[in-house]
Amino acid sequence: MDKVIINDVAPRDGLQNDPVALSPAERVALIDGLLDAGLPSVEVASFVSPKAVPKMAGAADVVEALDLDRADFHALVPNRKGYELACASGIRSVGVVLSGTETMNRENINMSLDRATSVCAEVLQQARADGLGARAYVSVAFECPFEGVVPDETIERLAAVMFDAGADEVIVADTIGAGNPLRAKALFGRMVAAFGATRLAAHLHDTRALALANAWQALECGIRRFDSSAGGVGGCPFAPGAAGNLATEDLVSLLHQAGMHTGIDLAALLNVVSDLGQRLGRSIGGRTVPWLRRNLAAA
Ligand code: HMG
Ligand code: MG
Repeated sequence: MDKVIINDVAPRDGLQNDPVALSPAERVALIDGLLDAGLPSVEVASFVSPKAVPKMAGAADVVEALDLDRADFHALVPNRKGYELACASGIRSVGVVLSGTETMNRENINMSLDRATSVCAEVLQQARADGLGARAYVSVAFECPFEGVVPDETIERLAAVMFDAGADEVIVADTIGAGNPLRAKALFGRMVAAFGATRLAAHLHDTRALALANAWQALECGIRRFDSSAGGVGGCPFAPGAAGNLATEDLVSLLHQAGMHTGIDLAALLNVVSDLGQRLGRSIGGRTVPWLRRNLAAA
């Protein structure tokens, strides 16, 4: 059976911009719930300035509370300092974030595109030298909230630089959910032709309710690794208009209906979504939740 690896980003992307701050212990409880539901991979934290992103404070406390042998855990690092803090926490895989436009890099990590490219490359090289997993987000893959449409060639060129620097995976990221199936087919097809499907992942936000349709295009192009977030929570604080991530439950539901294997137990995942909604003080969840609940209750 076709196997798909889902990396849940709710503890990082999902919580970084939420009005409600969860403590490191609450974030660990969320991560444990995701693992119990069968998630094989989780982005657990970001080692960023707590002044820039207060909700991610305590990243080291989160990592230090985890059993690192239990799954693949990743942390986002924006610069050398973040990398050193991440390393000291014991995390075994880091991800840098490079955006496709000048303005998005400046807004997100206060660097020019050139500077961000070289800092990301240095961090990836160091991670490889230190034996850590080295991932690279290439963000605003379809559209930048400040500069508009981003050409596919730009995303391919930046991904090539990240691979040359030692990235073992490039995550094509639709930061503001501006992709559509036609553009997704073109970009993912181009990226797979250039780099091969096994080294690519898709990270889709659902602003225009097209994340699932775009995920299908990525699948059709051969991509089998996805980021998504339990309950569909998420968004970048520095990208105006960014809405939540593709909900993990919607993606898993699609994949299972398509006969693909994820190892994820949807009933357990829905409990995680309910718990997270309670902690955040509001109802959350993907489009499939009412149908899934009825279906699981009847089973
Ligand atoms: P800066 O102000 O240029 O940094 O910010 P600096 O080097 O001048 O340092 C300023 C202060 O921050 C200093 O402390 C540093 O020590 C500290 P002070 O002397 O003022 O007390 N500092 C740090 N502290 C902790 N961790 C660090 C770190 N670096 C410096 N790593 C910086 C530059 C990158 C730090 C800042 O802009 C930042 O933290 N940005 C975070 C951006 C972020 O988290 N964005 C959201 C994640 S990206 C995303 O969501 C997109 C994604 O989901 C994919 C997609 O959807 O496209 C991944
Ligand atoms: Mg994101």
